[in-house]
Amino acid sequence: MDLCITKSWEMNNNSYIITGPTSGIGYATALALAKHGNLILVGRNEQKLQEVKKTIETSGGCAFTVVCDLSDIHSVRSAAKEIIALGLPVKGLLNNAGIMPSKPGKNAQGWDITFATNHLGTFAFTEALASMLPDGANILTVASAIEDPERKPAKIMGMKGGRFLSVAASAGGEWKAGGSKMPGIDAYATSKQCILAATLALARQDLRLHYNALEPGITRGTNLGGEDTPAFLRFLFGHLMAIIPPFSRFSSTPQKTARVIVQLLSSDTGKTGIYFDEKGKPMLASEQVRQPEFQDLVLSETRALLLAIK
Ligand SMILES: NC(=O)c1ccc[n+]([C@@H]2O[C@H](COP(=O)([O-])OP(=O)(O)OC[C@H]3O[C@@H](n4cnc5c(N)ncnc54)[C@H](OP(=O)(O)O)[C@@H]3O)[C@@H](O)[C@H]2O)c1
Repeated sequence: MDLCITKSWEMNNNSYIITGPTSGIGYATALALAKHGNLILVGRNEQKLQEVKKTIETSGGCAFTVVCDLSDIHSVRSAAKEIIALGLPVKGLLNNAGIMPSKPGKNAQGWDITFATNHLGTFAFTEALASMLPDGANILTVASAIEDPERKPAKIMGMKGGRFLSVAASAGGEWKAGGSKMPGIDAYATSKQCILAATLALARQDLRLHYNALEPGITRGTNLGGEDTPAFLRFLFGHLMAIIPPFSRFSSTPQKTARVIVQLLSSDTGKTGIYFDEKGKPMLASEQVRQPEFQDLVLSETRALLLAIK
């Protein structure tokens, strides 16, 4: 048996599952969280996962790796089975992986790649694992305030919030008219609108576990947007927003956000259904996402769409 697993059971160590630990917020969180328990690192790139595992174990931590493409529902389901087979005492799951490409793309099921990764895959992963998590486990999902059309910094940049028509329409890459002129933003905002709504619905429906969400702030120095983000936007997000009001008020770094995440994920307070800001304080979702009817609609439509994938 793997030494980490033996150590974990003998010491009654907590374990944490973290998606997207190979970069940005997820990487900073993995390093910080490794001091609180064993990690199950879930990512799409085996080599990058091994590098993070090595860094953690060099500092005395313990980490397992599970390869998973969160945009692909089949990959999500087999990764969840692999994690369950590890048999570790999981205290928390961090749904952190996410993308914001400016060019449209499709996943293995032919769905919009951004919506598939940030909402459908993340939701499928959560549901596949939920029944194996012990009572009171914390599930924290990284959302984004970009879903709110009234959010000041996003509004100034010409973003129009989530553009939800239906879950099936979003999977097909169709958004409510009148959206943002910036490529990829409607897909991103709608994916975050849906995962936030579904998280709040799960919190009301499943009282055995604790479901919360986090807006991590405008976090500089990550790879969000990737190589195809124009250099000016990279500079804007990476540096200028940290000093220009009103953006600076919401500015964060991967390390600062990681501290908030570690606190929420390792907490025993039993809080559920709360949307936290980058400082770990409760904040409001958009008016639409705050409606329980909307949350339940997103939940049921998402489950129906995923059920059709055999
Ligand atoms: N940065 C911000 O200002 C900001 C603001 C609001 C919300 N967020 C959210 O914060 C989260 C982390 O973002 P970040 O800024 O740290 O970005 P990042 O540096 O690009 O990290 C994203 C992580 O997700 C992983 N990932 C992407 N697609 C995946 C897939 N299909 N399957 C598995 N893993 C996948 C990436 O893996 P690879 O290393 O293999 O690419 C990487 O580890 C995201 O959910 C993002 O939407 C960020």
